[in-house]
Amino acid sequence: MNADMSNTRWAIGSVLLGAVLVFGLYGIVINATESERELFEQDAVYIEECGACHLAYPPGLLPVQSWQGIMLGLEDHFGESAETDAETAAHITNYLERVALQKGKPSPMSQMLRNMPDDPPLRITEFPAFITAHDEIPKQLQVEKLAEGFLSPCADCHREAASGVFDKDRLHPGYGPKVWADD
Ligand code: HEC
Ligand code: HEC
Repeated sequence: MNADMSNTRWAIGSVLLGAVLVFGLYGIVINATESERELFEQDAVYIEECGACHLAYPPGLLPVQSWQGIMLGLEDHFGESAETDAETAAHITNYLERVALQKGKPSPMSQMLRNMPDDPPLRITEFPAFITAHDEIPKQLQVEKLAEGFLSPCADCHREAASGVFDKDRLHPGYGPKVWADD
């Protein structure tokens, strides 16, 4: 082997090693930030099935009764079919029951329990605590009554919605649905 070739190989080797180190480190940093943010148990099946049409709502937003109601009515899910096979549905129900909103189990979403009726609604957006937290929005938008489901895409305004963070200081700057720009 001549000297030139081994130099080239050494050079390529260093670049590769450098890349491994840099990306490896990057990976560790990203993982650390993400795991810090992970405030509840995530489930890949849930995210895939229930995140297909809208945000995979953090399960801690709704109590067990609401999730069970939703899972039993998937063939007519707010006017659409969200049906899935029995095994997948059982897996999702099991997961939701485990991580649902629960009295006495503190979480960043515990405030949803405030004034919750004994027979809670299926929609997050119909919970008293939710309505109270969002009562300024119709006034800000100068509309009397928002259409049903207007506030359902949480991530339009809450930039960390998927991580279950809804603090008012973590809204998008100039929060609001993209459609606002059109009218
Ligand atoms: C085929 C599309 C589709 C799939 C799949 C789907 N959804 Fe939905 N979901 C909708 C629609 C449409 C609405 C009503 C949104 C609106 O009013 O704007 C909705 C609303 C909801 C709401 C109420 C949001 C609110 O307004 O508070 C919850 C909770 C919900 N879905 C949970 C689920 C769960 C759990 C799954 C998985 C089992 C799921 N969705 C799968 C289409 C879907
Ligand atoms: C149109 C924008 C918008 C949408 C969509 C929206 N929110 Fe909000 N949300 C806000 C604003 C603005 C506030 C802060 C209100 C205030 O001034 O206290 C807020 C406050 C909250 C709070 C109370 C936070 C705190 O710090 O006290 C919760 C919880 C919450 N939202 C959950 C949700 C969930 C869950 C969804 C989806 C189902 C949603 N929001 C959809 C704009 C929105």
